[in-house]
Amino acid sequence: MLEETAQVTSHIFVSSKKTENECLDRMLFGTSKVYSEDALAVKKGDLLFLLNIDTNVLHGVFRAKSNGRKDIVPEAWKGKYPYQVEVEQVGNLQTLKKARILLKKLGVMSHKSLNDAVTRRILTLFALTETDYLKQLADNKVWGLLTPEYEKNEKTKNANLSSEEKPKLESTTLWDFPRQSYGKSPKGNNKYAGVTPAFVIWNMIQRYTEPGDLVLDPMCGSGTTIDVCKEEGRKAIGYDIAPPPYRSDVVQNDARHIPLPDNSVDMIFIDSPYGDNIRYNDHPDNIGHISSEKQEFYTALEKVMDECYRVLKPGKVIGWLIGDQWVKKKFTPVGFKVYESLCKNFETVDIICVVRRSQASNTSFWHNRAKRYNFYLRGFKYLFIMRKPSETQVTPEKRNVKWAYYDRNRKTDTLK
Ligand SMILES: C[S@@+](CC[C@H](N)C(=O)[O-])C[C@H]1O[C@@H](n2cnc3c(N)ncnc32)[C@H](O)[C@@H]1O
Repeated sequence: MLEETAQVTSHIFVSSKKTENECLDRMLFGTSKVYSEDALAVKKGDLLFLLNIDTNVLHGVFRAKSNGRKDIVPEAWKGKYPYQVEVEQVGNLQTLKKARILLKKLGVMSHKSLNDAVTRRILTLFALTETDYLKQLADNKVWGLLTPEYEKNEKTKNANLSSEEKPKLESTTLWDFPRQSYGKSPKGNNKYAGVTPAFVIWNMIQRYTEPGDLVLDPMCGSGTTIDVCKEEGRKAIGYDIAPPPYRSDVVQNDARHIPLPDNSVDMIFIDSPYGDNIRYNDHPDNIGHISSEKQEFYTALEKVMDECYRVLKPGKVIGWLIGDQWVKKKFTPVGFKVYESLCKNFETVDIICVVRRSQASNTSFWHNRAKRYNFYLRGFKYLFIMRKPSETQVTPEKRNVKWAYYDRNRKTDTLK
């Protein structure tokens, strides 16, 4: 159907049980104003697919007979979807079942243009007979067909990660990790709600600890910090209010009372709850049961901060990962508030923006809602890197400023 060398672009239009027949009868796809830009980006000759969101079926393959335009057939769908494109069928009409999960695996969002590589992977599926497709789906083999070459290579690379091949040491304040973990052995449990990307902890310990140092995670969850530290030759202590039953090395403890002596730990990493958005467990003292809209939440975290301050050696670093909250049309700047609290005890080393990738809301359903109802999904978390001040720290020499400067206290604009 396609020349090997031709670059092909495709688009997925969305229909429902109500609108699908009209799409197919008129050979016209349409969308509302929210997606007008995407519809207008369709060029004559582009390939198109039609996703029925009610039946979860993707129909294909179609080709655009016109560029995307407004009101090609004004009366279609009673004027509800005026951004339209005329289409023609390419070959027999085929259907792919369980389409949403396929598209999710491909990282595809409906309405958005799909590049050559993604289009070709979808076409691979359409090229299968329906029986072959369903068999591959049942045998879980269909995912192999969807995985881009570069991801396959990455996976193999990570599977064979030797001790020399480690994650990248970050050099900027924007950290973006494609996966939760790296290497042969798992780091934490990627099925654990709110699990931390292991790369964050790896970067922290590379920068702020030496082999043999003791690292503490007072809210250790599935144990990612312990696993990363062990592999890097650091000692680690992990506590959690409700350790998962499969981890005997995560010790049950409330982070507001840490059973360690003062000034005994070389680094702390903590990925705390950032409100009551995730149900980690039913333990009554789980701080994740308290809404971040309440002061009580910050009071509880400040107790944890006080304990972290007490057990951390002077001059050593704590990394605190936290996100903001947007729930029921209300924004809560959890990150700013936690940062303010941290500043009571610690001095700032830097603030990192960690891109969020695998949260439950990273689906086309939520992306569509965010655009339709004019709100934003949380795209990042803060990693606050803070240091416990040290008395022995050398204070920089007072600078003897020689140049002229503006004296705010003077009434007249004179230079000193
Ligand atoms: C974001 S998760 C940590 C995830 C962890 N870093 C991992 O990779 O699996 C937050 C954790 O804080 C724990 N937690 C909540 N309240 C706590 C408390 N008072 N003391 C200790 N842990 C608490 C929860 O049980 C949950 O496991």
